[in-house]
Amino acid sequence: MSVTRRQLLAGLAGLGVIGFSAGGVRYWLGRPEDVATHDYELIAAPLDVELVPGFKTPAWAYGGQAPGLELRCRQGERLRVRFINRLSEATTIHWHGIRLPLEMDGVPYLSQLPVLPGEYFDYDFICPDAGSFWYHPHTASGEQLGRGLVGPLIVEERAPSGFRHERTLSLKHWHVDKQGAFTAFSVPREAARGGTPGLLSSVNGTHNPTLELPAGQVVRLRLLNLDNTLTYRLMLPGVEARIYALDGNPVEPRPLGKEYWLGPGMRIELGVRVPEAGREIPLRNGPLRLATLKSVASSETPGSWPPALQANPIAEPDLSRAEKMRFNFEWAGAVSVGVEQGGAHSFWQINGQAWDIDDKSCVERPIATLNKDGHYIFELRNLSQYQHPIHLHGMSFKVLSSNRKTITPYFTDTYLLGKNETAQVALVADNPGIWMFHCHVIDHMETGLMAAIEVV
Ligand code: C2O
Ligand code: CU
Ligand code: CU
Repeated sequence: MSVTRRQLLAGLAGLGVIGFSAGGVRYWLGRPEDVATHDYELIAAPLDVELVPGFKTPAWAYGGQAPGLELRCRQGERLRVRFINRLSEATTIHWHGIRLPLEMDGVPYLSQLPVLPGEYFDYDFICPDAGSFWYHPHTASGEQLGRGLVGPLIVEERAPSGFRHERTLSLKHWHVDKQGAFTAFSVPREAARGGTPGLLSSVNGTHNPTLELPAGQVVRLRLLNLDNTLTYRLMLPGVEARIYALDGNPVEPRPLGKEYWLGPGMRIELGVRVPEAGREIPLRNGPLRLATLKSVASSETPGSWPPALQANPIAEPDLSRAEKMRFNFEWAGAVSVGVEQGGAHSFWQINGQAWDIDDKSCVERPIATLNKDGHYIFELRNLSQYQHPIHLHGMSFKVLSSNRKTITPYFTDTYLLGKNETAQVALVADNPGIWMFHCHVIDHMETGLMAAIEVV
């Protein structure tokens, strides 16, 4: 049933399609003139991968890789992806963090109909912001993301950033056992708590890899949390690292410090000064090693620290006239009536309402309506003992303050709301549509912690 990489490529030739980008080729650099309809052709298909040495895992891949092929485009330019579904079930692609029109947002029955097996869908939108983003389905998310349908989308700055070297590190834990077989992506007992964790860590699809970096250079590391559940406590001990961007938006460069908590869906961009050749730096999740960064000799002149990255063109909320809205995230603790008939559990709710993942009509009942171009402050209150990475589609928001920590205000699309934390975020509602607003712990999102916010 699984398709090998060669079959994938052969199948493409049969389709007579040009523009396939394999093996992480930076295709946009050499975009041929005659590709009239798309820049990338991206296939979702089963692919056996070797996560546990000597064993096969029946993953699902984008572009022959799990995590998926890294897509790239330039800020302000169009990204056109012909997406072909070769899975045995329906799916969509959502472009996490990209401020785009609703029709391109990948939410089933709202943005588009699900892409059925054998069908294709052309995504076509402008990427207004430079930074590290990612893409994933918005259908059967627990299993589809769990099997590997997650991939980086890098939007390059219009002008050179000052970094001569960069690496993308896609972080994901796999729900597999010691023989590489998948275990449950969601266990109700865990969904009602912090979410069901996978046990096998990986960086770019490999458990505990060694990544080589050029000695003496300042390298841009793009770390993406593409995991279903886990918040990584990122540590890079023994090396000078500075934060350049959070979740796709530049910040004033500052030291990484002891650790940074990167929740599901979140990204961080670091500048790292690579030490002398031969040194090994562990990239850790708390006490656990995720990867080893190995410094190798480089003939280049030593690099220097680039200046701050250019801010993205996001409208600045005017707090003096902003309207305040409150969103409570809490544990519902109930099992919905439908469960005995195979319906979804509802363990979580936003402002007293649990989203039912099986009920297409939920999108017709937005929990808030914003006026187009209105200014808003959202008060996000976590009334539970578990943290929730709160994500909004379609618009970025500015994190203002928290009752738990000191915030230097910054723009993001996902905020990790800690246990019992209350935070204030603000935005200008400049993108008309109905936008999903949810926790990015997939188990939470699929058991109630999702809502729609309408902008009219
Ligand atoms: Cu990564 Cu609905 O989002
Ligand atoms: Cu999103
Ligand atoms: Cu949550």
